[in-house]
Amino acid sequence: MQETSRIRRSAALRARFGAVFGSGPGVALASAPGRVNLIGEHTDYNDGFVLPTPIDRRIEVAARRRADEQVVIHSVDFDETVRFEVGAVEERDSARPGWSDYPRAVLWALGARGVPLTGLEMAVAGDVPLGAGLSSSAALEVATALALQTLWGFELDGPAMACLCRRAENDYVGVRCGIMDQFVARMGREGHALLLDCRSLEHRQVPLALGRHCLLVCNSRVKHSLVDSAYNERRRQCEKGVEALKALDPTLRALRDVAPAGALLETARPQMGEVVYRRCRHVVSENARVSASVVALERGDLVTFGALMNASHDSLRDDYEVSCPEIDLLVDLARALPGTLGARITGGGFGGSTVNLMSEEAAQGFVEGVVVPFEREVGHRPEFLVLRLTSGRRQC
Ligand code: GLA
Repeated sequence: MQETSRIRRSAALRARFGAVFGSGPGVALASAPGRVNLIGEHTDYNDGFVLPTPIDRRIEVAARRRADEQVVIHSVDFDETVRFEVGAVEERDSARPGWSDYPRAVLWALGARGVPLTGLEMAVAGDVPLGAGLSSSAALEVATALALQTLWGFELDGPAMACLCRRAENDYVGVRCGIMDQFVARMGREGHALLLDCRSLEHRQVPLALGRHCLLVCNSRVKHSLVDSAYNERRRQCEKGVEALKALDPTLRALRDVAPAGALLETARPQMGEVVYRRCRHVVSENARVSASVVALERGDLVTFGALMNASHDSLRDDYEVSCPEIDLLVDLARALPGTLGARITGGGFGGSTVNLMSEEAAQGFVEGVVVPFEREVGHRPEFLVLRLTSGRRQC
């Protein structure tokens, strides 16, 4: 079923590519998935641990060389085409900031790495919801890099490709994200969560044996405008925390190095001030929750894993302050359903989506128990999907 819809989607993109650019040989196709982070939030840029899983929503890219020096990129979903000279790749298209920045950023990063760039025509399409905290941008970056790898044949292994895409987003698009999203888009595997050490990039696939439970992602369709500035502010607060901690322990490099049960954080509390202290307390406790979650999942102990998801949300709401009333409402309504083991915000925050671990029966009651009361209170309907566990990169 999954395979059939994938083939159908690839065929549709190929047909659209032919309609826009003309049919013919030499078309490379690739895709990458969106992701949902199960636990380990705002830990990646603190050298910590994350546990995301790829979702069955993908961005697909079709690409072919051109004989001239033009790069022409068509978005099927926006029905929009952008073009620029390959030699001008580093110039931001300020007239049209948005979706085309991501493939352009990947071209820029490949060029900066010494890959010889050629003229190109590309078409992109996908069904990862935008602005939902499900990483459509990382999926677009990784799908672009994979399609170009097939086309141009450069050497770049999975982790290096994830790092290149992150660099594209940090240094070209200008978003200071961590490595999680690009890494899972490239390295995630069907039916597994990906445990990633964001310092060493060591990673391990953790099987998701959910039995009669499922993961349900609910998109609030709320996006508060302060997302980017608040994200960068959280990063700065963590850096301030590290400075205060370093005064006590000069060997410390990042919040990842703080032991959850140790006295260091408490000792540094007066120097840090309350807000920075609470930000640090979230990161330190969240890293410990990731490790505990992996132990629980490997034991098949979903009750403990659910409790850790709940604790993660509470810490993000109270200590890290990246939730919002609409997301808290979704979480509270879901938790009130008998059969919900855990519910939390996922992704950067200030809107976006929640992830819920629940029995299949509870999921069947989601519309009545969550969607309808949410709509009544907030005024619009959230959308949700029950995850089919899927895999990362795909080159066709
Ligand atoms: C965004 C960023 C990630 C990560 C999360 C929070 O999704 O892109 O790198 O920091 O926020 O966990």
